[in-house]
Order: sequence, then C-alpha cells, then structure tokens
Amino acid sequence: MEARTMKNSSSSPLFVQLAALILFFLLSLLRSPVTASAQIGFMSPKIAAVNARWLMAKNNWGILSTISVDLGGVPFGNVVSFSDGEPGHGFGVPYFYLAELEPKGGYEINGTRAALTVSEDPLGTCTKDTQNPHCKRITLTGKLKWISLENPEIKFAQVALFTKHPELKDWHSYQSFQIYKLDLEDIFLFYEFGSPMHVTTKDYLEVPPI
Ligand SMILES: *[C@@H]1O[C@H](CO)[C@@H](O)[C@H](O)[C@H]1NC(C)=O
Repeated sequence: MEARTMKNSSSSPLFVQLAALILFFLLSLLRSPVTASAQIGFMSPKIAAVNARWLMAKNNWGILSTISVDLGGVPFGNVVSFSDGEPGHGFGVPYFYLAELEPKGGYEINGTRAALTVSEDPLGTCTKDTQNPHCKRITLTGKLKWISLENPEIKFAQVALFTKHPELKDWHSYQSFQIYKLDLEDIFLFYEFGSPMHVTTKDYLEVPPI
C-alpha cells in the first residue's frame, strides 16, 4: 500500500500535466470555443501549443505567403493544401505538394522563407466572425524544404498528404509537383484580445499526435 502511494506520488506531476492537456483537448473538441475560453481564461504556453497543434491537425488548407521576387518584394499569399499527418496522427509539421508559387512561378521554392496562415473558421467550431479574436488563427514561419524521394521522411509525407488530399496523388503527371515541408522557426497563435501568443517550436512539437 505504502509502496504504491510512493510510486504514484513520484510519477504524478508529469502524468497530471499530460492528463490535463489531454482532458483540455477533449473538452475543447466538445465545447464551443467561447465556453472553453471562458473557463480557461488566460492560456498557458502548453495549452497554447495544444491549440496550435489542434488547428494544424484539423485544417487541411491555408495561405502560404512568400516574398515575390517578380513583383519586387511584394508579399504574395497562395492558397495551398497541406497535411501534418494522417487523421489522428498529426505531428504538427505541415507538408505541401507544390510545383510552383504564384504569381508567375519560376523561382526557387526550396529554401524560400515562408509563412503559413490557418484559421479556425473552416472547421465550423467558431461561431463568431473570422476576424473575431474568439476565432483562433495561427501563423507559422520558416523555410520551405524540399523532401527528396531518397529522404526517409518521404514515406510519412506522402501518406500524410495523400490521405487527406487523395486527388493530389495524380498531379505529378501534369506538372513536376514535389513535396516540401515548412521547417518551423516561429509560431504565433492569435486568440482572444491582446498580442498573439508566441508558441515555442519545442512546446509545439512536444504535444502528442492529434
Ligand atoms: C534544397 O536545398 C537543400 C539545402 O540547401 C539542398 O541540399 C538540396 O540539394 C536542394 N534541393 C534541390 C532540388 O535544389
């Protein structure tokens, strides 16, 4: 009995934290964002990371912005499909299937600095206007990195993309589509009033698969 109590108490802080994260996540699935926010109040960095990962796992498209060389440095947003893993197995790193970036294409995607922006609005869980701070949104910045067919990561990326976007599988016969990922640098979660929350990539990547 005593040994059991000791064992529990020594392993409890981590377990309790993890259970709290999972519980919050399950609750956030069931409740409207407004109810959830009223209960949670100020979000801790870990909870912000869970929300960020949830937004990325549930969404399957966003706006990928780069600086257009052709237009002399104008920021240009492209609507793109993405996936961070199979449903229930999202790991937070977005993969894309790209041939070129608008407006004119022709410039290098590999290594380009980019920002991916995703809104809660398409998920249908947000009852407010898209720009209302109660409707979560996220912007991730980083560099687009080409995933070669020899890279062991290609298998995961292909399954991730083609499970959520079956149509993409055949696109290589029209144009030279290749898989890229966003090598994450900074993550900003916009939620409620005030400044966006800066989620560290460490907190973000440590959230269990969603
Ligand atoms: C993409 O960039 C990486 C890192 O700079 C480089 O190793 C790789 O060869 C590039 N791939 C292509 C297709 O240019």
